Parts: sequence; C-alpha cells; structure tokens
Amino acid sequence: MVQSMTRRGFVRLGAGAVAAGAAMKATLLEPAAMRAQTVGGGSAGGANGRKIRFVSIGTGIRGCDLLRSARQVPTGECVGAADLYRTRHQAAKEAWGAEIPTTGDYRSLLDRKDVDAVFVATSDHHHRRVTLDAIAAGKDVYCEKPISHSVADGAAMVDAVQAGKRIFQAGSQRVSSILYKKAAEIYRSGRLGEVHWIDAQINRNSPGGAWVYPIPPDASPETIDWKEFLVDAPERPFDAARFFRWRCFADYGAGLAGDLFVHLLSGIQGITGMNTVASRAYSSGGIYHFNDGRDFPDLLETVYDYPGMQVHLHCNQNNNDGDDRIGIYGSLGTMVVAGNSLTFTPQDVRPRFETYGWNGMTAAQKRQGLEEWNAAHPAPPAALGETESYALPPGYDDTADHIANFFSAVETREHVVEDEVFGNNAAIGCHLANYSYFHRAVAQWDAAAKTIKG
Ligand SMILES: NC(=O)c1ccc[n+]([C@@H]2O[C@H](COP(=O)([O-])OP(=O)(O)OC[C@H]3O[C@@H](n4cnc5c(N)ncnc54)[C@H](O)[C@@H]3O)[C@@H](O)[C@H]2O)c1
Repeated sequence: MVQSMTRRGFVRLGAGAVAAGAAMKATLLEPAAMRAQTVGGGSAGGANGRKIRFVSIGTGIRGCDLLRSARQVPTGECVGAADLYRTRHQAAKEAWGAEIPTTGDYRSLLDRKDVDAVFVATSDHHHRRVTLDAIAAGKDVYCEKPISHSVADGAAMVDAVQAGKRIFQAGSQRVSSILYKKAAEIYRSGRLGEVHWIDAQINRNSPGGAWVYPIPPDASPETIDWKEFLVDAPERPFDAARFFRWRCFADYGAGLAGDLFVHLLSGIQGITGMNTVASRAYSSGGIYHFNDGRDFPDLLETVYDYPGMQVHLHCNQNNNDGDDRIGIYGSLGTMVVAGNSLTFTPQDVRPRFETYGWNGMTAAQKRQGLEEWNAAHPAPPAALGETESYALPPGYDDTADHIANFFSAVETREHVVEDEVFGNNAAIGCHLANYSYFHRAVAQWDAAAKTIKG
C-alpha cells in the first residue's frame, strides 16, 4: 500500500541534468501502516483478542528469514516449527524464539487445533503435499514461491485451496512491496501509453548466487531425514549436496526459472495486472561455468508471448550487471524498477520536424517541407514531462508486509494480494521456460487441458 508522499524529498535537477532537458523529481516512499495493521482491524490482539497462530514447515534459509520478518508483524505468533534437518530446529528457535516446539514430523503440527495457518518453506517438491495436508487439516497457507514443482502440482493446489475455501498467499513478497504498488499505480494511470514489451533480469556472480550453499559438518543420515526429503523423487543414497543445493536439481527444484524468473513474473503480474499465463515461451541457455553435476543452466533467457505483450526474461549466474531489474517500455514512457527504486521517464513524443526522411530530397523540397510543418505547428512545443524516481526507505522489508497481508486475510477472510491463481500463473511461467530449455522447442500453454505442449 503506497501512502501519499509525506516525506517528499523533491530534488529538482534543472534542465540539462536529465536527457532532453527534463527535470527530475525524486521521492522517498513511506512504508504503509499495513504492517502495524491489526487483524480484525482492532488491537494487535485481533478481533477475538488473539493473534494468528502459525507454524513454519521448513526452517532452512527462507523459513528462518520468514520467521525473522514475521517477528516484525504484531498480528501473528509462531507456535511451532518442523524441519527434516535436526540442527535447523535450533535455527528456527534462534529466528523466532526459544519457546517454540520443534519436530521432524510436520503432520503433528497440523493435528493441533490451536494452529490457524501454516508457512510452507520447504524445497519446491514438498509444496504440494504439505499444502494439501494443511488444507485437509483446515489451515490457511502461506506457500513459498514457486508454489508448484510441476504444472500438475499447481493445478491440484489451486483446486484444493478453492474447494477447502482456504486463504492462500503465494510467497513472492515483492507483490506487497510499496515500490511495486507505486509501479502498478503508474502503470494503471496510462502514463506509459501502449505497452508491448517488458524486459527483466536478475543476475548474480558468486558461488552462493549459483546455489553452491554451505554443507554443514554435522550433515549426515543421522541428522537429516533423507527418506522423507526424497518423498516421491527417485530413490538415491544420501547426498548432502542434493539436500542443501536442491535448486540445482530437477527432482526437487526448478532452477533459475523457479528461483528467480518467478519473482520477475510475479512482479510483472502485480504491476500490469496481467494475471495470466503466456501462450508460448522459448528459452535458450546453458551450463557455462557451474559444471558441478547440476541439471539447470547457469544462464537462461526466455521470450514469452502474453496477450499483446512480449516479455523477455534473463538470468545470468556469471555476471551480475543490472542485478534485479524490470523495464517496462511504453509508447509514452519507460518505467524501470531496479532494486530499491523505480524511475519513470517520459518518452519525448512531442511533434517535431523529422529531418531524416528529407535526406533524399532536394534543398527546395526540404525548405518547403519545413515551411509547411512550421505553419502547421505555430505554437512552441510543450515542456517535456519530468522524470520521476521513487525509492524505498532504508531497511524496508516487503516480506513483513506480505505476511501482514496474509494474517489480515486469515482473520477477515478477505482476499490476499497474491492468491493461488496468481501464484500458479507465475509458477506455470517457470515450467514453460524449463520445458522449452530442456526440450529445445517452443513451449505452448494449453489452458483448456492445463498442460504444456511442445
Ligand atoms: N520468497 C523468497 O524470496 C525466497 C527466498 C528463498 C527461498 N524461497 C523459497 O523457499 C523455499 C525454501 O527454500 P530455502 O532456501 O529455505 O531451502 P532450504 O534447503 O534452505 O530449506 C528447506 C528446508 O525445508 C525442509 N523440508 C523439506 N521438506 C520438509 C518436510 N516435508 N517437512 C519439514 N521440513 C521439510 C528441509 O529439511 C530444509 O531444511 C523454496 O520453495 C524456495 O524457492 C523463497
């Protein structure tokens, strides 16, 4: 939720500082009161005088980050955590508080009647099972992105959420960011004109950025429930690299598409309101540097056909130039959301005498053409609109706002910002990209059959 700009740090850099002499207006966005917004619209204790009670299933990197962000949200309270790696029970307690009970068996948490909601922060191949079990137990679900490990998983999850009338928030938190809400406001205003092209990227350049995560010395079949981790993935002997670096492997994750495209697609869906699936996708890429036995490429680019829109996504794990950036290119303006800021730059479409087309004419023709143009345009050109930039305040946490939105919906039963259909559409975009990469063919989305075809 974007509040009106109370802390307006207007910076006017006079004409000439910005291309074509336009001025620049810079604004620091204000965090909305949303995080402090209380369930039931009342006190931090909620309508019934209590907080939303949730458990976290999966307390690895993201699960612990979710717990730390949730601590900023006064309307919820963690009452338990589950993880298959025993040492992460302690990590969960350090992230939330020593008082929470922990277990290796998430089902025991779902049996508890005092639990309202569940965070699902497992590796992707567990999302469907844990979500369906949580819904069967009558819980609402915040499920990390990408919500599904396959198209079939996503369809089953959407059906279960809707049949069970549960609240479901997909975990691409930028959809709740005040920066993305500002971008959506600019998009909806029509100031970009006609938009037919979006170009977006997230790049990284380090082993950690390519999911070569640390393997702790105590990792073993004694501390990790390997059989449960595999669940319905192909049987194989204990392999700590597969457990901690699961994003590299198709049995458990979805590579760059599932890890990073999903954030870009969710951001694009949120800004444009284009909450649908591309009809076609074509990917290209390869494993250029991280030849460590992984399945997924370390460089991937995909061109998508959306209705009236080309979307070009690319992620590189071998150079981080441009970092995290969504460029939206319209006939009247360009909007770039990059990291913690966004810029809107008007296109200069003021009428002008375009000399190029006259280069093949005689001097007399040019003179006459210019005279006629001047006669048809007697007024001086209007001033070019200002370039605008908006920035997030330091320390802003969109995950906390996303969780606050979820807790509020759990209480009020009103809609979340990123429901199961939204999350599923973004996840299908990831599966389209991977299908095309692995099949070396254009992936086509068959919406009626809910399948990808080559
Ligand atoms: N929204 C974001 O910005 C963001 C960032 C990172 C990761 N993620 C997503 O969060 C999810 C988790 O990623 P991660 O980096 O934390 O992975 P991770 O490997 O660090 O942690 C996953 C944990 O889930 C546990 N787990 C798996 N199945 C389980 C089960 N059935 N019961 C209990 N625990 C189970 C594992 O033991 C592991 O500790 C993924 O879907 C990922 O895509 C989202």
